[in-house]
Amino acid sequence: MVKHPLVKDILVDRKNIDTKISELAKNVNEYYKNINYKDSTVITIGLLKGCVPFMAGLIKELNFQCITDYMIVSSYAGNITNVQEPKIMNDISVNIEGCHVLLIEDIIDTGITLNFIKDYLLKKGAKEVKVITLASKPNKIKVDLKPDWNGFEFGDEFLIGFGLDYQERFRNLPFLATCDISKLDNWKW
Ligand code: IMP
Ligand code: MG
Repeated sequence: MVKHPLVKDILVDRKNIDTKISELAKNVNEYYKNINYKDSTVITIGLLKGCVPFMAGLIKELNFQCITDYMIVSSYAGNITNVQEPKIMNDISVNIEGCHVLLIEDIIDTGITLNFIKDYLLKKGAKEVKVITLASKPNKIKVDLKPDWNGFEFGDEFLIGFGLDYQERFRNLPFLATCDISKLDNWKW
């Protein structure tokens, strides 16, 4: 297949992402290993749409009892910077009162989205909210939030692939890549 002109450099390929997801799953399994399935179910909540490839890989390797649910939160509105306050477009469909919640995200940039959602879920009565993310950009964080488990760290480049989009495209790419932003000014689909 011809490389898309907006894909600049492939930073992490499929094989290395899969290996990382398995490593993360091991650590998550270790953390929840004492959860008794008779009286507790972990609620995993994916933030759509970016969580899909990461979450699909991760949950298949989790060995504790869990419910999988999703939220849609808008913040980037298809752009390359965070342009608005996070807004919940689709809320969870299960009761999380007194539950262990595992929030699953594609990438943390400013951290504003996850911070907002974490607070929201705690206010809804979650006993604990842990955060796992495939990637993060530690230099860009603007709030006091650290993922409990993080796959890869990057600088401040704009990334696409493995769930990450530019104007809703590229989520399907099986790798993490930099986007050639020099081409975006006059870009037409
Ligand atoms: P934050 O609130 O600034 O941490 O932004 C988090 C959200 O912005 C993530 O859930 C992503 O959907 C999106 N995002 C952040 N960085 C990138 C990127 O490099 N490429 C694509 N989407 C990104
Ligand atoms: Mg996202």
